[in-house]
Amino acid sequence: MATPKLLVDVHTHVYLPRYASVLRSRTVAPRILTRSSGPEGKSEERLLILENEPSGGRPVGAQYWDRDEKLRFMDKHGIDISVVSSANPWLDFLSASKAHTLANELNNDLEQYCSTSPIISETRLRRLYGFGLLPLVPEVAISSLLDTVQQISRLSHLKGIIMGTQGIGKGLDDDALDPVWEAIEKAGLVVFLHPHYGVDGKAWGEKDNGHVLPLALGFPFETTVATTRLILSGVFDRFPSLRILLAHSGGALPQLSSRLASCIDHDPVVASRLKHDARYYLGTSLWFDAVAYGSEELGFKGADRKIGSKRMMFGTDHPFFPPLSSSEKWASVVENLDAIDGVQGWTQHGRDSVRGGNALTLFNLHN
Ligand code: URA
Ligand code: ZN
Repeated sequence: MATPKLLVDVHTHVYLPRYASVLRSRTVAPRILTRSSGPEGKSEERLLILENEPSGGRPVGAQYWDRDEKLRFMDKHGIDISVVSSANPWLDFLSASKAHTLANELNNDLEQYCSTSPIISETRLRRLYGFGLLPLVPEVAISSLLDTVQQISRLSHLKGIIMGTQGIGKGLDDDALDPVWEAIEKAGLVVFLHPHYGVDGKAWGEKDNGHVLPLALGFPFETTVATTRLILSGVFDRFPSLRILLAHSGGALPQLSSRLASCIDHDPVVASRLKHDARYYLGTSLWFDAVAYGSEELGFKGADRKIGSKRMMFGTDHPFFPPLSSSEKWASVVENLDAIDGVQGWTQHGRDSVRGGNALTLFNLHN
């Protein structure tokens, strides 16, 4: 059966009900708290991801955990398939044993969420697939991480693993993680690398600018640094079939990759460490979501950074970025679709690949 042209969202999140209950039970961030607001004292739930978050966190509701809401959102925007991932901060705040247990439970929950989703007519594909979770916290036994990679690889609707940048406390360039990269590579799972902590908040100054600086700049810089450290550690030379999808189009890495290559070449500590020029890994080990909101940003990467329409994939970051006033469609979705349509120099085939074809290939979602 030929697979029809599908719109596939590779960057879309959920707080599974079991995870939301854990957040509700907490008294420090990350937590979900209930507060009364409005003249009638109506209560609303708010999500506080980091302590001291601007505006006391953000309102949360069913769109964060209810699968029907996800499917309704997909229908409204013409999205055929979503590859859903747990949202930050994952299991980062738990002890090793709690993180291991919850990872296993949440992976099973997500498999259930996906495997019972509707089938797309005329295909054997379902509407939902997922990224599992590893208990990536300090002091976890490597064997616990390897067991969880095996668990995820047995859950047939989970196609990868979402992770933050902390690893088991020393970042992702920690040599102790080599067995984990090896197991992920062998299982053929895709890593979705996603930020949470941003960069040192002192850089944001004292003005109240809402969430803008940490979200627009801190998040992508965190991804940029983590990915650069991975490149410098030689992980992609040791595990050349490892596939990593970078959130928010890889942050500033594509724009800075030639500078990075030059700095490496001029640095006596690392000049001969890597098998390839740093830019090489952008075209072999790394994939990029198209959550950049502008054609110029997508096109710049395509023009001369060897990324182009072959390595990019549509994403929404749902349920984050809801419209501030009621609107038919979410601007965050429409802008990302318009950006794909507007890239100068991409062919129609290239645009279709970014809208869905690349994801079907990367996640092996063929009929
Ligand atoms: N997008 C995310 O994925 N997480 C956030 O915390 C905010 C936006
Ligand atoms: Zn996200």
